[in-house]
Amino acid sequence: MNTIMKKMKAIFVLVLFAGLYTFAGAQSMNNMSNMQMSKKTGMIEKAVCVVYPTQGNHVTGTIIFTKVKNGLRVEGDLHGLAEGKHGIHIHEYGDCSAPDGMSAGGHFNPKGKAHAGPMEAMRHEGDMGNIVADSKGDAHIDYVDNALSFEGMTSIIGRSVVIHKGEDDFKTQPTGNSGARVACGVIGIGKL
Ligand code: CU
Ligand code: ZN
Repeated sequence: MNTIMKKMKAIFVLVLFAGLYTFAGAQSMNNMSNMQMSKKTGMIEKAVCVVYPTQGNHVTGTIIFTKVKNGLRVEGDLHGLAEGKHGIHIHEYGDCSAPDGMSAGGHFNPKGKAHAGPMEAMRHEGDMGNIVADSKGDAHIDYVDNALSFEGMTSIIGRSVVIHKGEDDFKTQPTGNSGARVACGVIGIGKL
């Protein structure tokens, strides 16, 4: 009786391990085909924007956009800012050639809405709000933006990020009254 029980136990354990092994194998096959799918369709998963100072300014930094479930994660560090709040937007054109950054055009607004803050449902797609610089002039940004994407009419690829001298008030139309453009960079496709 005892030996039969032992044998059955051994068989049960064997079957359990075989099952787990098959499950893990199926999972990794799944991941493989997902990766191949994304390569096949050419879907963009990440974008990078390096900002450079406009004439007379010293603001530099990098902003990374990564595709997440509900939009894009926006993550970056800026340097060379005056202490306090600074408006940050995606502007319509990926053109930072003008010394004052005005070649980037207005806020990216493909749906023709009013200017507002990043957490409002009605806003320009480009309204990312304010970044806050510390006494050293450094600012960090990290949030998930539900209005931004890499596809279709709201795609930010090939547009620009502009950092402003002053604070965005989320009210003044159509700019938020955040003043001169102190840095500008073009948003390009990044390697994941
Ligand atoms: Cu702006
Ligand atoms: Zn705006």
